Amino acid sequence: ASAAVFQARCLGDPCAPLAAIKEFLSTGPGLLALGGGGDRVFSKERAALEELRGHRNIVTLYSVFTNCTSAKGPSYCLLLELLDISVSELLVHSSQHGCSMWITQHCARDVLEALTYLHHKRYVHADLKPRNILWSAEEECFKLIDFGLSFKEGNQDVKYIQTDGYRAPEAELQNYLSKAGVQGGTECTSAVDLWSLGIVLLEMFSGMKLKHIVQSQEWRANNSAIIDHIFASKSVVNSAIPAYHLRDLLKSMLHDDQEKRATAAKALCSPFFSIPFAPHIEDLVMLPTPVLRLLNILSDTSLQNEEEFEDVVDDIREECSKYGQIVSLFVPKENPGKGHVFVEYANAGDSKAAQRALTGKRFNGKFVVATFYPLSAYRRGYLYQTVL
Ligand SMILES: *[C@@H]1O[C@H](CO)[C@@H](O)[C@H](O)[C@H]1NC(C)=O
Ligand SMILES: *[C@@H]1O[C@H](CO)[C@@H](O)[C@H](O)[C@H]1NC(C)=O
Repeated sequence: ASAAVFQARCLGDPCAPLAAIKEFLSTGPGLLALGGGGDRVFSKERAALEELRGHRNIVTLYSVFTNCTSAKGPSYCLLLELLDISVSELLVHSSQHGCSMWITQHCARDVLEALTYLHHKRYVHADLKPRNILWSAEEECFKLIDFGLSFKEGNQDVKYIQTDGYRAPEAELQNYLSKAGVQGGTECTSAVDLWSLGIVLLEMFSGMKLKHIVQSQEWRANNSAIIDHIFASKSVVNSAIPAYHLRDLLKSMLHDDQEKRATAAKALCSPFFSIPFAPHIEDLVMLPTPVLRLLNILSDTSLQNEEEFEDVVDDIREECSKYGQIVSLFVPKENPGKGHVFVEYANAGDSKAAQRALTGKRFNGKFVVATFYPLSAYRRGYLYQTVL
């Protein structure tokens, strides 16, 4: 790696949002061999992020600066928006079950929105993988990071692109030829990103690492048959999930022939995106948002007795306001969501602190369960019957 990433807070302003600093190591002879040292990768990533600024599914670049205090000489730094959990971590948490259809759909839509914009500007990300897709708690969506290998279509400067396991067949061929010293050949296009996203989504759906499968003869001979097999074995486990639209979408993204592969804009029109999935309770624990939802906190008697209800809600409000400014607090007295407490904070940092502090705490003798809740759904007054 040619860069290191740190978390930072603006000195003198404790209310400023946390940020991420990506520091590029100065160019050494070893790095040059890998197709670009820190300085060059920095310039590329900076140019891409400046040109792509403003899309909600792409990490925001705040500013750039030079760190002169390093012993190894000055290093270039990008000051970036700080994001939360990565798809790679989500995959670890969901182990072999795979991610829920709600998360998979959310991720697919958000990344395809980013790619549509990117590809419209003729940029190719060229390193899409689970570690480069991160959740934003503040904006409640997935965002793309790491544009160090990105290039403009028709102007591919680095021949060695993408990561093992997520590399499109034409990029695989190109890497192979350039390693063998063969000059020229065709350039890669935005279609390589669709391939990588197809693999990421297949991993999310199946819960399997596919690195070895995609290198197998069987996959190369007919990946459609393997995708069918993965979907068939999953539907035995959970036949209630209507997964065939996702299967067809993934096949269109994993076409061997880049000319026939779906574009990002086309993929967004898949009927898969019109299916209303509900989040699992684990999803609402893993993906922070500015809204906290407290379960197992109000008893039926306090819901029925107006005076007791007011008292308990006041206590909860007081406890919750210890972690940050409360924008709104809502307790449905009927289903859906009967007796759940929804607390909207001004920012996700506060709701995260509250979730950590309140989980497992006893309130009126009961153990509180604290999850997050999608702000968009909360604002619409939409209460999911979450799947346990
Ligand atoms: C600058 O580099 C020094 C030494 O490597 C490091 O300790 C410091 O945190 C860096 N500062 C920033 C703002 O990146
Ligand atoms: C690939 O497998 C599918 C079955 O999933 C089959 O319908 C198709 O004909 C196969 N294609 C080739 C080229 O063998």
